[in-house]
Amino acid sequence: MNTNVHRIPGPLSPLDRLGRPLHDLRISVMDRCNFRCPYCMPKEQYHEHYRFLKSQERLSFEEITRLSRLFASLGVRKLRLTGGEPLLRTNLADLVGDLTDIPGIEDIALTTNGVLLAQHAVDLHANGLRRVTVSLDTLDKAVFARMSGGFAALDQVLSGIDAAIAAGLTPVKINAVIERGLNDHTALDLVERFRGSPVIVRFIEFMDVGSRNNWRPDLVVPSRELAAQIHARWPIQPTSQNYPGEVAQRWRFEDGAGEVGFISSVSQPFCGSCSRARLSSEGRFYTCLFATQGLDLRGPLRAGADDAEVLQLIRGAWGVRADRYSELREELRRAAPEAKKIEMNYIGG
Ligand SMILES: C[S@@+](CC[C@H](N)C(=O)[O-])C[C@H]1O[C@@H](n2cnc3c(N)ncnc32)[C@H](O)[C@@H]1O
Ligand code: SF4
Repeated sequence: MNTNVHRIPGPLSPLDRLGRPLHDLRISVMDRCNFRCPYCMPKEQYHEHYRFLKSQERLSFEEITRLSRLFASLGVRKLRLTGGEPLLRTNLADLVGDLTDIPGIEDIALTTNGVLLAQHAVDLHANGLRRVTVSLDTLDKAVFARMSGGFAALDQVLSGIDAAIAAGLTPVKINAVIERGLNDHTALDLVERFRGSPVIVRFIEFMDVGSRNNWRPDLVVPSRELAAQIHARWPIQPTSQNYPGEVAQRWRFEDGAGEVGFISSVSQPFCGSCSRARLSSEGRFYTCLFATQGLDLRGPLRAGADDAEVLQLIRGAWGVRADRYSELREELRRAAPEAKKIEMNYIGG
């Protein structure tokens, strides 16, 4: 698998209404999570009585593999396994193995909170996973506990990162969501710790996902502000994208100690080149990370639809896609002041 190739889609690849191809698919393999990060699955909403999916309601590995094969035939080249927490899904490495065999898939990635990574890194690598993204917002134990919903698992996450490096899942990328007043004062510690190692830190602007994560524009730390702070201490230079449509803006340290990335979907939306879609764990196809409505694919699959019928459904949904949520965020939020209408299954349920 080549992780750096962005192919021009073939004649069978649909374009949406804004001329964008379908290139990346994020697959939620598990709606549950062992954390309750307030910006994603706040405890008040995802409490002990919250109704998560029953296992038979989740797509099976066979269904995920079949759909991935169909998506690949439409031009998808990159799959990202996510959740919820994907490593809560039993035998996830088996799924990785199945997906690796799909013709056309050039890159399979996994995003995890890292708690269970030390247990699974070797197996995942043996089944064909080549890289992993670990979410880690801070190295400060108290701040970590707040940002994970009360879990004191920082050491486990750090062990997971070490295990991933040892297993060859490199470069390990770290996703750090930065929220003003919460962990912004610890952002540079992450840079200091991982500069010059096989780990690339990427800072993510706090996004208004879900309806109850108490998002406010003033809590977003714009990437340019963080970049300036980093630059003042370790000079950085912008560097080229790995492929068109890459989400993170990459900056390299002038002293050769690697790079940092910024995912700036609030301050610099990148909808114009967005070629990503997602599949929820119950089999809904969403054409935007922020979409509220998804197309049910599990129903047709389980009702016996053949490949041509499922392809027709996917093509149809992509063909009418006009999503530009991040570019229209202000307007949409004004139109939905209580923020209920932008509830999304970003967490993958
Ligand atoms: C939803 S999680 C799922 C995978 C896994 N549980 C994890 O945390 O890596 C995927 C990524 O979304 C990010 N994320 C979740 N809510 C976010 C928000 N409100 N703003 C920005 N990023 C967010 C997380 O930090 C994580 O890196
Ligand atoms: S960001 Fe990941 S670890 Fe945190 S609650 Fe969401 S799914 Fe769980």
